[in-house]
Amino acid sequence: MLTKTLFPGVAVVTGAGGTGIGAAVAKAFAAAGCERIAITDLNETTLEQTKNAVAAAHPHTQLLVHSGNVADDQFADSFINKVVQYFGRVDYAVNCAGVLGQPLRSSETSLAEFDRLNNINYRGCWLSSRAQLKQMVRQGALPSHDSSRPPQRGAIVNVASQLGIVGRPSAPAYCASKSAVIGMTRADAIDYSKDGIRVNCVCPGVIETPMIMEKTEVREAITPAAEIAPMKRMGKPQEVADAVLFLCSTQASFVQGHAMVVDGGYITV
Ligand SMILES: NC(=O)c1ccc[n+]([C@@H]2O[C@H](COP(=O)([O-])OP(=O)(O)OC[C@H]3O[C@@H](n4cnc5c(N)ncnc54)[C@H](O)[C@@H]3O)[C@@H](O)[C@H]2O)c1
Repeated sequence: MLTKTLFPGVAVVTGAGGTGIGAAVAKAFAAAGCERIAITDLNETTLEQTKNAVAAAHPHTQLLVHSGNVADDQFADSFINKVVQYFGRVDYAVNCAGVLGQPLRSSETSLAEFDRLNNINYRGCWLSSRAQLKQMVRQGALPSHDSSRPPQRGAIVNVASQLGIVGRPSAPAYCASKSAVIGMTRADAIDYSKDGIRVNCVCPGVIETPMIMEKTEVREAITPAAEIAPMKRMGKPQEVADAVLFLCSTQASFVQGHAMVVDGGYITV
Protein backbone atom coordinates (compact mmCIF):
# COMPACT_ATOMS: atom_id res chain seq x y z
CA MET A 1 0.00 0.00 0.00
CA LEU A 2 1.30 3.47 -0.88
CA THR A 3 1.87 5.71 2.14
CA LYS A 4 1.08 9.36 1.50
CA THR A 5 3.79 11.68 2.78
CA LEU A 6 3.03 14.24 5.47
CA PHE A 7 5.15 16.65 3.41
CA PRO A 8 3.69 17.12 -0.07
CA GLY A 9 4.91 20.75 -0.15
CA VAL A 10 8.24 22.57 -0.39
CA ALA A 11 10.73 22.64 2.49
CA VAL A 12 13.32 25.35 3.08
CA VAL A 13 16.17 24.92 5.57
CA THR A 14 18.78 27.53 6.53
CA GLY A 15 22.04 26.52 8.24
CA ALA A 16 21.73 23.19 6.43
CA GLY A 17 25.41 22.52 5.75
CA GLY A 18 27.42 19.67 7.23
CA THR A 19 26.30 17.39 10.04
CA GLY A 20 24.41 19.73 12.38
CA ILE A 21 20.73 20.21 13.13
CA GLY A 22 19.92 21.90 9.79
CA ALA A 23 21.52 19.08 7.81
CA ALA A 24 19.60 16.53 9.91
CA VAL A 25 16.37 18.42 9.19
CA ALA A 26 17.03 18.42 5.43
CA LYS A 27 17.78 14.69 5.50
CA ALA A 28 14.72 13.99 7.66
CA PHE A 29 12.45 15.85 5.20
CA ALA A 30 13.84 13.76 2.34
CA ALA A 31 13.45 10.54 4.33
CA ALA A 32 9.84 11.52 5.14
CA GLY A 33 9.02 11.80 1.44
CA CYS A 34 9.33 15.55 0.92
CA GLU A 35 10.45 15.75 -2.69
CA ARG A 36 11.18 19.47 -3.03
CA ILE A 37 13.77 20.84 -0.62
CA ALA A 38 15.79 24.07 -0.73
CA ILE A 39 18.87 24.28 1.45
CA THR A 40 21.17 27.16 2.24
CA ASP A 41 24.21 27.84 4.42
CA LEU A 42 27.11 30.30 4.58
CA ASN A 43 29.54 27.43 4.09
CA GLU A 44 29.47 26.21 0.48
CA THR A 45 31.60 23.14 1.20
CA THR A 46 29.44 21.75 3.98
CA LEU A 47 26.29 22.65 2.03
CA GLU A 48 27.58 20.50 -0.81
CA GLN A 49 28.11 17.70 1.74
CA THR A 50 24.42 17.84 2.72
CA LYS A 51 23.38 17.94 -0.92
CA ASN A 52 25.43 14.83 -1.69
CA ALA A 53 24.11 12.97 1.37
CA VAL A 54 20.48 13.70 0.47
CA ALA A 55 21.00 12.91 -3.22
CA ALA A 56 22.69 9.58 -2.41
CA ALA A 57 20.01 8.41 0.03
CA HIS A 58 16.96 9.89 -1.75
CA PRO A 59 17.67 10.26 -5.47
CA HIS A 60 14.08 11.32 -6.24
CA THR A 61 14.36 14.42 -4.08
CA GLN A 62 14.64 17.66 -6.03
CA LEU A 63 17.15 19.90 -4.29
CA LEU A 64 17.76 23.60 -4.65
CA VAL A 65 21.14 24.49 -3.17
CA HIS A 66 22.09 28.12 -2.71
CA SER A 67 24.74 29.45 -0.33
CA GLY A 68 24.48 32.82 1.41
CA ASN A 69 24.64 34.81 4.61
CA VAL A 70 21.42 35.09 6.63
CA ALA A 71 22.77 38.28 8.22
CA ASP A 72 22.86 39.98 4.80
CA ASP A 73 19.64 41.95 4.55
CA GLN A 74 19.27 41.22 0.82
CA PHE A 75 19.92 37.49 1.00
CA ALA A 76 16.74 36.08 2.55
CA ASP A 77 14.41 37.76 0.05
CA SER A 78 16.57 36.77 -2.92
CA PHE A 79 16.84 33.17 -1.69
CA ILE A 80 13.08 32.81 -1.15
CA ASN A 81 12.42 34.40 -4.57
CA LYS A 82 14.71 31.78 -6.08
CA VAL A 83 12.90 28.98 -4.23
CA VAL A 84 9.56 30.26 -5.51
CA GLN A 85 10.85 30.55 -9.08
CA TYR A 86 12.11 26.97 -8.89
CA PHE A 87 9.47 25.20 -6.79
CA GLY A 88 6.50 27.58 -6.87
CA ARG A 89 5.94 27.93 -3.11
CA VAL A 90 7.30 27.55 0.45
CA ASP A 91 5.44 25.28 2.87
CA TYR A 92 7.84 24.29 5.65
CA ALA A 93 10.57 26.74 6.60
CA VAL A 94 13.15 25.84 9.20
CA ASN A 95 15.57 28.54 10.35
CA CYS A 96 18.63 26.81 11.80
CA ALA A 97 21.52 29.11 10.88
CA GLY A 98 23.25 30.24 14.03
CA VAL A 99 26.53 30.73 15.87
CA LEU A 100 27.56 30.22 19.49
CA GLY A 101 29.89 33.21 19.86
CA GLN A 102 32.79 33.77 22.22
CA PRO A 103 32.51 32.62 25.87
CA LEU A 104 32.52 36.08 27.43
CA ARG A 105 30.74 37.92 30.21
CA SER A 106 28.95 41.12 29.20
CA SER A 107 31.70 43.39 30.51
CA GLU A 108 34.21 41.55 28.29
CA THR A 109 32.02 41.41 25.18
CA SER A 110 32.78 43.89 22.40
CA LEU A 111 29.98 45.63 20.57
CA ALA A 112 31.25 43.99 17.37
CA GLU A 113 30.85 40.49 18.87
CA PHE A 114 27.42 41.32 20.31
CA ASP A 115 26.27 42.65 16.93
CA ARG A 116 27.75 39.71 14.99
CA LEU A 117 25.92 37.18 17.12
CA ASN A 118 22.61 39.01 17.08
CA ASN A 119 22.88 39.75 13.37
CA ILE A 120 23.06 36.03 12.65
CA ASN A 121 20.97 34.44 15.41
CA TYR A 122 18.18 36.96 15.84
CA ARG A 123 18.16 39.44 12.96
CA GLY A 124 19.10 36.67 10.49
CA CYS A 125 16.28 34.51 11.76
CA TRP A 126 13.87 37.44 11.51
CA LEU A 127 15.01 38.31 7.97
CA SER A 128 14.59 34.66 6.93
CA SER A 129 11.18 34.21 8.50
CA ARG A 130 10.00 37.57 7.18
CA ALA A 131 10.85 36.50 3.62
CA GLN A 132 9.14 33.14 4.20
CA LEU A 133 6.00 34.78 5.66
CA LYS A 134 5.79 37.22 2.72
CA GLN A 135 5.62 34.24 0.38
CA MET A 136 3.32 32.14 2.55
CA VAL A 137 0.62 34.84 2.77
CA ARG A 138 0.65 35.07 -1.04
CA GLN A 139 0.14 31.38 -1.73
CA GLY A 140 -2.88 29.08 -1.47
CA ALA A 141 -3.11 26.49 1.30
CA LEU A 142 -2.38 22.79 0.92
CA PRO A 143 -4.89 20.26 2.25
CA SER A 144 -4.12 18.67 5.60
CA HIS A 145 -3.12 14.99 5.85
CA ASP A 146 -6.61 14.26 7.16
CA SER A 147 -9.70 15.99 5.92
CA SER A 148 -11.01 16.84 9.41
CA ARG A 149 -8.29 19.43 9.86
CA PRO A 150 -7.92 22.84 8.24
CA PRO A 151 -5.62 23.30 5.25
CA GLN A 152 -2.19 24.80 5.96
CA ARG A 153 -0.71 27.75 4.10
CA GLY A 154 2.68 27.34 5.70
CA ALA A 155 4.57 26.37 8.83
CA ILE A 156 7.74 27.97 10.16
CA VAL A 157 10.01 26.46 12.79
CA ASN A 158 12.73 28.72 14.19
CA VAL A 159 15.62 27.09 16.00
CA ALA A 160 16.05 28.84 19.35
CA SER A 161 17.76 27.10 22.30
CA GLN A 162 17.24 25.97 25.88
CA LEU A 163 19.49 28.99 26.49
CA GLY A 164 16.64 31.19 25.36
CA ILE A 165 14.81 29.97 28.48
CA VAL A 166 17.54 29.45 31.08
CA GLY A 167 20.88 31.19 31.46
CA ARG A 168 24.43 29.90 31.14
CA PRO A 169 27.71 31.46 32.27
CA SER A 170 29.54 33.62 29.76
CA ALA A 171 26.86 33.58 27.11
CA PRO A 172 24.74 36.73 27.56
CA ALA A 173 24.54 37.70 23.90
CA TYR A 174 23.77 34.12 22.79
CA CYS A 175 21.11 33.62 25.48
CA ALA A 176 19.46 36.93 24.62
CA SER A 177 19.54 36.22 20.89
CA LYS A 178 17.70 32.93 21.47
CA SER A 179 15.16 34.51 23.87
CA ALA A 180 14.52 37.01 21.09
CA VAL A 181 13.82 34.17 18.66
CA ILE A 182 11.27 32.72 21.11
CA GLY A 183 9.59 36.12 21.53
CA MET A 184 9.49 36.72 17.78
CA THR A 185 8.03 33.24 17.23
CA ARG A 186 5.16 33.91 19.65
CA ALA A 187 4.38 37.32 18.16
CA ASP A 188 4.42 36.00 14.56
CA ALA A 189 2.19 33.10 15.64
CA ILE A 190 -0.40 35.61 16.83
CA ASP A 191 -0.18 37.72 13.67
CA TYR A 192 -0.31 34.91 11.12
CA SER A 193 -2.88 32.55 12.67
CA LYS A 194 -5.62 34.20 10.63
CA ASP A 195 -3.65 33.39 7.46
CA GLY A 196 -3.47 29.66 8.17
CA ILE A 197 0.25 29.87 8.94
CA ARG A 198 1.77 28.31 12.06
CA VAL A 199 4.98 29.63 13.62
CA ASN A 200 6.73 27.61 16.32
CA CYS A 201 10.26 27.13 17.57
CA VAL A 202 12.37 24.37 19.04
CA CYS A 203 14.72 24.88 21.96
CA PRO A 204 17.45 22.25 21.74
CA GLY A 205 19.59 21.34 24.71
CA VAL A 206 23.21 20.21 24.31
CA ILE A 207 23.29 18.54 20.89
CA GLU A 208 26.20 16.68 19.34
CA THR A 209 26.92 18.92 16.36
CA PRO A 210 29.99 20.65 14.93
CA MET A 211 29.03 23.80 16.89
CA ILE A 212 29.80 21.93 20.11
CA MET A 213 32.22 19.19 19.05
CA GLU A 214 34.53 20.79 16.49
CA LYS A 215 36.69 23.01 18.75
CA THR A 216 38.32 21.37 21.78
CA GLU A 217 37.83 24.39 24.06
CA VAL A 218 34.11 24.60 23.23
CA ARG A 219 33.64 20.84 23.61
CA GLU A 220 35.35 20.87 27.00
CA ALA A 221 33.34 23.88 28.19
CA ILE A 222 29.90 22.76 26.97
CA THR A 223 29.70 18.96 27.05
CA PRO A 224 29.72 18.72 30.89
CA ALA A 225 26.42 20.68 30.76
CA ALA A 226 24.80 17.55 29.32
CA GLU A 227 25.28 15.94 32.75
CA ILE A 228 22.89 18.50 34.27
CA ALA A 229 19.99 17.08 32.27
CA PRO A 230 18.15 14.12 33.85
CA MET A 231 18.87 12.07 30.73
CA LYS A 232 22.61 12.71 31.23
CA ARG A 233 23.63 12.69 27.61
CA MET A 234 23.89 14.93 24.62
CA GLY A 235 21.11 14.88 22.09
CA LYS A 236 21.55 13.85 18.47
CA PRO A 237 20.72 16.24 15.63
CA GLN A 238 18.13 13.72 14.40
CA GLU A 239 16.28 13.97 17.71
CA VAL A 240 15.84 17.70 17.14
CA ALA A 241 14.94 17.12 13.48
CA ASP A 242 12.10 14.80 14.55
CA ALA A 243 10.56 17.55 16.68
CA VAL A 244 11.01 20.06 13.85
CA LEU A 245 9.26 17.80 11.34
CA PHE A 246 6.36 17.22 13.73
CA LEU A 247 5.91 21.00 14.13
CA CYS A 248 6.03 21.50 10.34
CA SER A 249 3.51 18.76 9.64
CA THR A 250 -0.27 19.04 9.78
CA GLN A 251 -0.13 16.57 12.68
CA ALA A 252 0.74 19.72 14.65
CA SER A 253 -2.32 21.52 13.23
CA PHE A 254 -3.27 23.03 16.64
CA VAL A 255 0.27 23.80 17.84
CA GLN A 256 0.90 27.52 17.51
CA GLY A 257 3.54 29.88 18.99
CA HIS A 258 5.07 27.01 20.96
CA ALA A 259 8.69 26.79 22.14
CA MET A 260 9.24 23.02 22.14
CA VAL A 261 12.14 22.07 24.38
CA VAL A 262 14.24 19.10 23.19
CA ASP A 263 16.84 18.92 25.94
CA GLY A 264 16.73 15.60 27.83
CA GLY A 265 15.02 17.44 30.69
CA TYR A 266 17.75 20.08 31.21
CA ILE A 267 15.44 23.01 32.00
CA THR A 268 13.29 20.98 34.40
CA VAL A 269 16.10 20.63 36.96
N1 LIG B 1 24.28 22.13 19.13
C1 LIG B 1 23.65 22.59 20.19
O1 LIG B 1 23.92 22.15 21.34
C2 LIG B 1 22.57 23.61 20.05
C3 LIG B 1 21.75 23.86 21.16
C4 LIG B 1 20.75 24.79 21.07
C5 LIG B 1 20.53 25.48 19.88
N2 LIG B 1 21.35 25.24 18.82
C6 LIG B 1 21.06 26.01 17.61
O2 LIG B 1 20.84 25.11 16.54
C7 LIG B 1 21.15 25.76 15.31
C8 LIG B 1 22.02 24.82 14.50
O3 LIG B 1 23.27 24.68 15.16
P1 LIG B 1 24.11 23.33 15.14
O4 LIG B 1 24.32 22.93 16.53
O5 LIG B 1 23.54 22.40 14.16
O6 LIG B 1 25.53 23.90 14.67
P2 LIG B 1 26.25 23.89 13.25
O7 LIG B 1 27.41 24.80 13.44
O8 LIG B 1 26.46 22.52 12.78
O9 LIG B 1 25.16 24.56 12.31
C9 LIG B 1 24.99 25.93 12.18
C10 LIG B 1 25.04 26.23 10.70
O10 LIG B 1 24.74 27.61 10.51
C11 LIG B 1 25.60 28.08 9.51
N3 LIG B 1 25.77 29.51 9.62
C12 LIG B 1 26.48 30.20 10.56
N4 LIG B 1 26.42 31.51 10.30
C13 LIG B 1 25.66 31.66 9.20
C14 LIG B 1 25.26 32.77 8.45
N5 LIG B 1 25.62 34.02 8.78
N6 LIG B 1 24.47 32.57 7.35
C15 LIG B 1 24.11 31.32 6.99
N7 LIG B 1 24.49 30.21 7.66
C16 LIG B 1 25.25 30.39 8.75
C17 LIG B 1 26.91 27.35 9.72
O11 LIG B 1 27.74 27.36 8.58
C18 LIG B 1 26.43 25.96 10.12
O12 LIG B 1 26.34 25.09 9.02
C19 LIG B 1 21.83 27.07 15.68
O13 LIG B 1 20.89 28.12 15.56
C20 LIG B 1 22.21 26.87 17.14
O14 LIG B 1 22.28 28.09 17.84
C21 LIG B 1 22.35 24.32 18.88
